[in-house]
Amino acid sequence: MEKITVIGAGNVGATCANVIAHKDLAQEVVLLDIKEGIAEGKALDIWQTAAINHFNTRVTGVTNDYLKTKGSGVIVITSGIPRKPGMSRDDLIKTNASIVKEVTEKAVKYSPHAIIIVVSNPLDVMTYAAYQASNKPSNKVFGMAGTLDTGRYRAFLANALNVAPVDIHAMLMGGHGDTMVPLPRYTSVNGIPVTELLGEEELNKIVERTKKGGGELVNLMGTSAWYAPGAAAAQMVEAIVDDQKRIIPVCACLKGEYGLKNIYMGVPVKLGKDGVEEIIEVQLNEEEKKLLKTSAAAVKDVMKVLDKMKLF
Ligand code: NAI
Ligand code: 2OP
Repeated sequence: MEKITVIGAGNVGATCANVIAHKDLAQEVVLLDIKEGIAEGKALDIWQTAAINHFNTRVTGVTNDYLKTKGSGVIVITSGIPRKPGMSRDDLIKTNASIVKEVTEKAVKYSPHAIIIVVSNPLDVMTYAAYQASNKPSNKVFGMAGTLDTGRYRAFLANALNVAPVDIHAMLMGGHGDTMVPLPRYTSVNGIPVTELLGEEELNKIVERTKKGGGELVNLMGTSAWYAPGAAAAQMVEAIVDDQKRIIPVCACLKGEYGLKNIYMGVPVKLGKDGVEEIIEVQLNEEEKKLLKTSAAAVKDVMKVLDKMKLF
């Protein structure tokens, strides 16, 4: 791919651009921020690792200059404030909705054919805001959360079982909040159901820790995580650039799937060069359906806050 843009050169955006460059996913990655000099500085710093770490992707930093993002194939939106201890992701909406609207409109003007991946929180509702601001089909506008949340879940399981993290395959659905729904019935260690390897009590503890995985890091660091979120967004970029048709949880627009409509939320999708190429409907039992419904209701509550802001 010729060009990929990452908007927001903070912790998550810079990490994402760094991983994209290291994977050589494009000829150029453009990092854009509103804060004078920050994107230029981080881009230069990343680019100076190219000779050391053997990559070719040019890394450019710009202060609010969307002309430099022109013709991007993928745009990752990470601009906005992160959580501080005691805040929920939903507390961020008032500030971040306006930012996401503004950057989406500007970015799409210069890259009308780009696929947009939203990372800013509250994730599900910010993805919905970007969709509205972009005027693009919903398969081209979606959000990153499930790759991160399953990354956490898989890391905890790898520790509990003392196995390689890559051998853990897992699915997770719902909103990117404490109501997210990790699915032990759809979790395996290279095909062996995890329910055969771990007892119910230990699995439940891991599920609960996963749901609060973001908060655990906020409490430790005073701000939210960035290594795993940045890498997770870059993995989605890779699936698109290389047309990998990966089956991963993505915050996608539902149009009746799982009995839900007009909502963006995490579901298993096929991710390839056209973005969300398919939403996969797996069989859920009554308990899982109930949890998913609760999660959807939590997302809808935050959507109401966005609607009241009358930005669209
Ligand atoms: P950060 O504060 O380190 O970086 C945010 C950057 O956005 C700052 O450099 C800021 O100057 C920039 N920015 C603000 N307004 C802008 C505008 N109008 N145009 C361009 N840039 C602008 O925050 P961090 O840690 O990178 O987090 C970014 C967002 O990602 C937060 O909303 C956070 O909650 C969210 N997040 C989402 C995750 C997910 O799983 N979806 C995981 C981790 C973070
Ligand atoms: C996370 O899960 C805060 O959404 C961010 O780390």
